[in-house]
Amino acid sequence: MKILIKNGRLIDPGSDTDSVLDVLISGNLIESIDRDIPATNDVEIIDAKGLVVSPGLIDVHVHLREPGFEYKETIKSGTAAAAKGGFTSVVCMANTDPVNDNKSVTDYILQKARTEGTARVFPCGAITKGLKGQELAEIGEMVEAGITAISDDGFSVKNAGLFLKALEYAKKFGIPTISHCEDKELAQGFVHEGRASLLSGLDASPSIAEECVVFRDIAVARYVRSPLHITHVSAGGSVDIIRQAKAGFPLLTADTCPHYFSLTDEATLTYDTNTKVNPPLRSKDDVEAIKQGLGDGTIDIIATDHAPHEFGSKNVEFDLASFGISGLETALALSLALVRDGVLDLKGLLAKMTINPARLLGIPYGQVAAGRIADLIVFDPHIEWVVDTAVFRSKGRNSPFQGWSLTGRNMLTIVDGRIVYRDPILPQYLPASG
Ligand code: DOR
Repeated sequence: MKILIKNGRLIDPGSDTDSVLDVLISGNLIESIDRDIPATNDVEIIDAKGLVVSPGLIDVHVHLREPGFEYKETIKSGTAAAAKGGFTSVVCMANTDPVNDNKSVTDYILQKARTEGTARVFPCGAITKGLKGQELAEIGEMVEAGITAISDDGFSVKNAGLFLKALEYAKKFGIPTISHCEDKELAQGFVHEGRASLLSGLDASPSIAEECVVFRDIAVARYVRSPLHITHVSAGGSVDIIRQAKAGFPLLTADTCPHYFSLTDEATLTYDTNTKVNPPLRSKDDVEAIKQGLGDGTIDIIATDHAPHEFGSKNVEFDLASFGISGLETALALSLALVRDGVLDLKGLLAKMTINPARLLGIPYGQVAAGRIADLIVFDPHIEWVVDTAVFRSKGRNSPFQGWSLTGRNMLTIVDGRIVYRDPILPQYLPASG
């Protein structure tokens, strides 16, 4: 059966489209996009009046936890959460057990994603074996098996010579290196070093722990002219460094996450372990700098760093709790606040969640156009709802946004021409038979 999405506001940043148009999907492809496409008997009609139709969101940074930590998340539950949140493609980080540092783990993830996934899964290979920073992982073999990027996320590669070699390999294989920037000697605490840490008494890490490594990683990547992507930027100083470096190094890109523009370190004063994330929530000035970086294009992409954890690993003292936020199911609504705040227009925001990540990864998604694969979503930018982690599809209920009133929610997700998520309140009209 074909799917006809009628009367939606189609926003496709890749083709600079923002117009009320119908979208007809046939098989796994977008057959046509036009005004008033007539409904035939073989179509399911989705009435998208008042709703936005956009390319499926693409997240360059999630933790799906499989293999090894299935009690936190599985490829099945993580991609179900992605589909509910509006994400049709996700990049999963290598800090599984075993670490994704060789072909067999990459194969395993891709096989599981094919049989159990509801969103596309793009594995990210480790830079170093076991994420230990000592020896390069089997990068070539993993590229052959299907990784789309490399990263030691959770750690920086401390040895600059080894990092340079990894960048050279990545360049040769045509994939980006995703950099988690953190000097572990400087980052000794769990929250941002500032006024809030002074009040809470929690061990703190200064912004320079991030900024120093941002500076070094850019210098090395620039030297070998290899694509570098700085992930989960949290500090205003990092935004300044990236802004300056981009002028002379166009292969540099960056992302930030919704929690870095929605919360400040004040949130940690509650001692809620769901506010414990790495890098830490930072000051009001940092949040403003992040927003400025999003607005002026210094930060190209919004990613979630979806980091699901089981209840027990958060239900402990702050210093013992795991770092991370389960982010796939709140990302769209939190990001839409940037439009209401005047930081970005809706097309500009969606570019950071669709075409920009697609370009970084070199994948043929992130666009709604005739002849393309049908990966798209329909969302309501105005609906108000209250975050209830009990109904998350993710196993990770660790969200500091529990109980928040948010505006905007995904209603329908289509991957490869198939409806993989439908919000219960989405109106649906089937054609009259005969
Ligand atoms: O908060 C985080 N959680 N930051 C990271 O870098 C890793 C992640 C995780 O794996 O839980």
